[in-house]
Amino acid sequence: MASVVSAHDFLRGKTTLVTGVTGFIGKVFVEKILRVQPDIKKLYVLIRAPNSYLAKQRFHNEVIGKDLFKVLRDKLGAEFGSFISKKVIVVAGDVSLDNFGIKDENMKNQIMEELDIIVRTAASTTFNER
Ligand SMILES: NC(=O)c1ccc[n+]([C@@H]2O[C@H](COP(=O)([O-])OP(=O)(O)OC[C@H]3O[C@@H](n4cnc5c(N)ncnc54)[C@H](OP(=O)(O)O)[C@@H]3O)[C@@H](O)[C@H]2O)c1
Repeated sequence: MASVVSAHDFLRGKTTLVTGVTGFIGKVFVEKILRVQPDIKKLYVLIRAPNSYLAKQRFHNEVIGKDLFKVLRDKLGAEFGSFISKKVIVVAGDVSLDNFGIKDENMKNQIMEELDIIVRTAASTTFNER
């Protein structure tokens, strides 16, 4: 019989790419992983932006800058910034495009080599969109 592994254990040592992290579900998912399973290897977060500078800016303002991350900030104290830099890699892209719209070839190759899991929460939640 196949053994049951919890999501917590499954993610240990794994590299995961998450889309939709500026959204409701994606943000909650990223916060929870970083808080309860700090032994993930790496977390790529794909953010809709034309370049990596703007993607990083969105990550800081719209994701880790939010009150949701207060518990993790308080828990890690002065280590918060270095923990995020060590674990999280922000990637500019767009899931509606080929290869998720990742223009940086080195980044694309690195992701393809390292990735274990993709968690896709990116979606259009505008119900009257064409
Ligand atoms: N919220 C709920 O309670 C709930 C419950 C069950 C299921 N769901 C499902 O979970 C999914 C996400 O819901 P949500 O509430 O988190 O939605 P949301 O708050 O509207 O977030 C959507 C996310 O998807 C991103 N996105 C949209 N199009 C993209 C594209 N082309 N490339 C890259 N990123 C893109 C958005 O980025 P931008 O910031 O750039 O727009 C945003 O980060 C949906 O499928 C929804 O039906 C939600």
